[in-house]
Amino acid sequence: MVTDGIFKSMTDPTRRRILQVLLQNELGVSELVNVLDAPQSTVSRHLKSLREAGLVDARQSGTSATYYPIRSQNGSNGNNGTDHDLRVRVLDWSAAQELPSSLKSRLDDVLRSRQTDSDAFFSQVAHRWDAMRTDCFGTSFHLDALTALLPSDWTVVDVGCGTGYLLPLLSRRFANVIAVDPVDEMLDVSRARLKDESASKVTFRKGAASNLPIDDDACDLCIASLVLHHEPVPPDALEEFCRILKPGGQVLIIEQEAHTLTAFHDMMQDRWWGFDRSELSSQLNKSGFEDCQTHDLHSVAPAKAPSIDAPGLFALTGRKP
Ligand SMILES: C[S@@+](CC[C@H](N)C(=O)[O-])C[C@H]1O[C@@H](n2cnc3c(N)ncnc32)[C@H](O)[C@@H]1O
Repeated sequence: MVTDGIFKSMTDPTRRRILQVLLQNELGVSELVNVLDAPQSTVSRHLKSLREAGLVDARQSGTSATYYPIRSQNGSNGNNGTDHDLRVRVLDWSAAQELPSSLKSRLDDVLRSRQTDSDAFFSQVAHRWDAMRTDCFGTSFHLDALTALLPSDWTVVDVGCGTGYLLPLLSRRFANVIAVDPVDEMLDVSRARLKDESASKVTFRKGAASNLPIDDDACDLCIASLVLHHEPVPPDALEEFCRILKPGGQVLIIEQEAHTLTAFHDMMQDRWWGFDRSELSSQLNKSGFEDCQTHDLHSVAPAKAPSIDAPGLFALTGRKP
């Protein structure tokens, strides 16, 4: 029956055109109507018989359907080898036929109008887009996307994990995460933060940066975010970071720029007034790391003015040889 349908489809010039056009691009019914310059009822009727012949199928996207030619044997009606071979021959033949220039030009117009529609929408919402983006998707999904560039089998340590701010992100991506902090209350808050299944990937250990409860050569990435300015002897911590990393392992330090903001320093009870970037970078190099580089961190202006002047931040990265 399907074989009959395939032959029957090819006897009709409109169905042949539809197949040719769909071989160029997947299209919705109203787009096909424009390209073929034919009534919608005609296009729908021919699409129905092309579907019955197993030559075309539709992909549903919300309330609209997009039609495409079926090439695989698993298509809706592709249940026998002869039909499959015939279908492939029909599609190959259709693809080899030249599309009349009038259809080609209308097809180009239809594809261009997709972009025009999108441009028209974004030109209206340009000033509201950030709010719409945050409202719909939150503010940090791109961080998950960026971590997807890193190998998921890494073991990552979050030194001075604090309340575990980074842990949801890290545990969603990496196989093993070790969260270290010297303060029990911080570790408790961190544990409470992780409720989903990724929590099982995180182990919590009490300890300090200069004496980490981690074996030599055990980790692929060591992160110390806003921690080093609390560490009594920062060079000792940097040497520890090198000790626990595997050869080729990387360190990521996020730190305050050197500052003189007394109110901030007192409020945070920091030991150090931030760090000079190049001094910290040389110190990291002396601790056994190579390719030490500092990076600007640009923070997005907060919605309301901060309650206190805070120093700028930078990142420092390096690799254990
Ligand atoms: C400002 S919080 C930062 C927490 C987290 N890393 C973040 O980015 O939100 C500093 C954390 O470092 C911890 N800390 C203080 N001295 C430390 C040390 N010598 N080694 C490791 N962690 C330390 C504190 O207990 C606190 O949880």
